[in-house]
Amino acid sequence: MKNRLSEYRTLIDRRLEDFFVLPEGDPMSGYAEALRYSLLSGGKRIRGTLLLEFCRICGGEVAAALDAACGLEMLHTYSLIHDDLPCMDDDDLRRGKPTNHVVYGECVATLAGDALQAEAFGTILRSDLPGEARLRCAELLADAVGFDGMCGGQYLDMLGEGKVLTTAELDAINRRKTGALLSAACAMGAAAAGGSKEQETAAARFGTLIGLAFQIRDDMLDVLSTEEELGKPIGSDRNEGKNTYMALLGLEECTRAVGRLTDEALAVLREQFSDTAFLESLAESLAARKS
Ligand code: IPE
Ligand code: IPE
Ligand code: MG
Ligand code: MG
Ligand code: MG
Repeated sequence: MKNRLSEYRTLIDRRLEDFFVLPEGDPMSGYAEALRYSLLSGGKRIRGTLLLEFCRICGGEVAAALDAACGLEMLHTYSLIHDDLPCMDDDDLRRGKPTNHVVYGECVATLAGDALQAEAFGTILRSDLPGEARLRCAELLADAVGFDGMCGGQYLDMLGEGKVLTTAELDAINRRKTGALLSAACAMGAAAAGGSKEQETAAARFGTLIGLAFQIRDDMLDVLSTEEELGKPIGSDRNEGKNTYMALLGLEECTRAVGRLTDEALAVLREQFSDTAFLESLAESLAARKS
């Protein structure tokens, strides 16, 4: 499992190196540097990996889907740059390095996120996938990250600051802010392979379930981890008055919820797909992740 994970990660990391390269002295080189600073700073590449593996188990060609995976990681990186801005979570550490706005200033960081969002779609639409698969991938991503997706989730997350929400309200936030993109990653993999509607739907469902588990685990790590291990500030959620599963449910209930959601995700996976060993161990390792 570790091998395939690092193979996918290496594939994605190497390909991402090709983007936003300008000749020295170009007036835009500072801007390109800001994009590359966050894009190439060593994310786990979970979303790209999910896309590539779903593509593989649905009978598709991993190499042809690589740019779709890179586009997805661009989109994710944009969401992190904006999430860290002073007007949002106001965090100064990401992936073990100072956040984009700390290094380049708020204006450039905002523009770096903006460009990465647009370039994400361009990269998917210019990928080596068949035309229909490219369009479907772009559509799935657009639906996941827009008004009623990730951005809506970030809006509700901000609106809930300092208030006590119910678990149902928190689930609704996290399904959008984190679940939607992970769900799209899986569905895009099925779509990249030209998979059936049933496969796309089951992949999306798997992604939603591990996405919810992922955010619960993220909330746990904000309390339990160390800055060194996590590469992000500890206690950021409490400082910002965030609603989190940890604050609402406590450690034991969070651990149970992550286990329950992961089990449910595995059941969905086994029912619809074969050759699922890697995705099963990935889901299990995400449930227990330390960073
Ligand atoms: C962080 O995502 C944002 C959340 C949705 C909690 P990741 O933990 O996947 O971040 P990277 O890409 O590995 O840095
Ligand atoms: C972020 O949730 C979800 C995004 C859309 C980026 P968090 O705010 O909890 O993510 P981290 O902890 O900063 O990575
Ligand atoms: Mg946030
Ligand atoms: Mg944050
Ligand atoms: Mg967090």
